[in-house]
Amino acid sequence: MSSTTTTDVRKGLYGVIADYTAVSKVMPETNSLTYRGYAVEDLVENCSFEEVFYLLWHGELPTAQQLAEFNERGRSYRSLDAGLISLIHSLPKEAHPMDVMRTAVSYMGTKDSEYFTTDSEHIRKVGHTLLAQLPMVLAMDIRRRKGLDIIAPDSSKSVAENLLSMVFGTGPESPASNPADVRDFEKSLILYAEHSFNASTFTARVITSTKSDVYSAITGAIGALKGPLHGGANEFVMHTMLAIDDPNKAAAWINNALDNKNVVMGFGHRVYKRGDSRVPSMEKSFRELAARHDGEKWVAMYENMRDAMDARTGIKPNLDFPAGPAYHLLGFPVDFFTPLFVIARVAGWTAHIVEQYENNSLIRPLSEYNGEEQREVAPIEKR
Ligand code: COA
Repeated sequence: MSSTTTTDVRKGLYGVIADYTAVSKVMPETNSLTYRGYAVEDLVENCSFEEVFYLLWHGELPTAQQLAEFNERGRSYRSLDAGLISLIHSLPKEAHPMDVMRTAVSYMGTKDSEYFTTDSEHIRKVGHTLLAQLPMVLAMDIRRRKGLDIIAPDSSKSVAENLLSMVFGTGPESPASNPADVRDFEKSLILYAEHSFNASTFTARVITSTKSDVYSAITGAIGALKGPLHGGANEFVMHTMLAIDDPNKAAAWINNALDNKNVVMGFGHRVYKRGDSRVPSMEKSFRELAARHDGEKWVAMYENMRDAMDARTGIKPNLDFPAGPAYHLLGFPVDFFTPLFVIARVAGWTAHIVEQYENNSLIRPLSEYNGEEQREVAPIEKR
């Protein structure tokens, strides 16, 4: 092996600034995050998910008329291609729901004759389509696995309420029938909508930088988001909490995991080292959901795990830590938590794809070779 080493190699691109972006700003020094200049906690308290989606795309919050047009257009895409419906039903019920989402987006790309257009208006049209149809795909996938009838979308409802209605129906027990539940769910979508050059967004930008199409970029981004070190963490958080089961055992579980050098999902972040800016807002919604849905056990679990992790390592929770039990309290199956993240993050991904196309430079880093020195091929009988 070559003994060449260099201090220039930044494994994991740790600390590397790869490009400019005007979409969002992560400020680890102050644990804060802005979307197009607005603090995320301000947006969470005062805006709908659709307003935030519009903001990420257009750089400004919509007027009432712009929002009405945005909603009318977006909701007009709430109908699934017959081929996509039969494709979803043909997929194994054991398949991970993220694979179903990825396959659905890939299929959509095969049906768009203009798929290679890099025009921002086309990207936004695709974004509208994904925002309208991915909740339908997710709801259909949940219900087909349970042998339940599929529920049609309702064009009078917001993205959040429509999604909850299609998954849980509109009966009195459904979170779709409780405005406070709808709002807490919507807040999670706002918090998940965008986060600068995270792994999935960067994946989308790498694919876009080759002048490939938007469906390929989103398909790749879904693949990156699935990993447990990224979006997949919200599922692992809940699997862990369910496995621990008793909040009084949380501290022992954390200490045992750390003794065995295991990563504890829902903690730590590549950029934030003193806490994730999105956690206070998500934790507030989680606590409110718990108060309405007999979730004291999960609040105790949350607090005991957080305190044990803090005492031992000082590592703080990230957004996935409160989001996992919040989605559990809403009633979503655990392996659909990351697909919910997909639906929210379509906003950020498409905003970044437009930004990348508009000021493109092929993303192609270098590597420092550390393999064999150059040598000659020996004839096969002499190897
Ligand atoms: N559990 C246990 N140890 C952790 C940890 C976690 N969740 N997060 C970080 N650490 C440890 C690292 O192993 C490292 O230990 P070492 O110095 O002994 O090698 C140390 O803390 C510093 O790690 P850091 O450089 O801050 O981590 P990173 O930037 O390489 O990784 C993550 C960031 C997100 C990949 C990492 O924190 C992680 O794997 N978290 C769990 C997955 C998760 O929740 N992902 C969602 C992120 S929003």
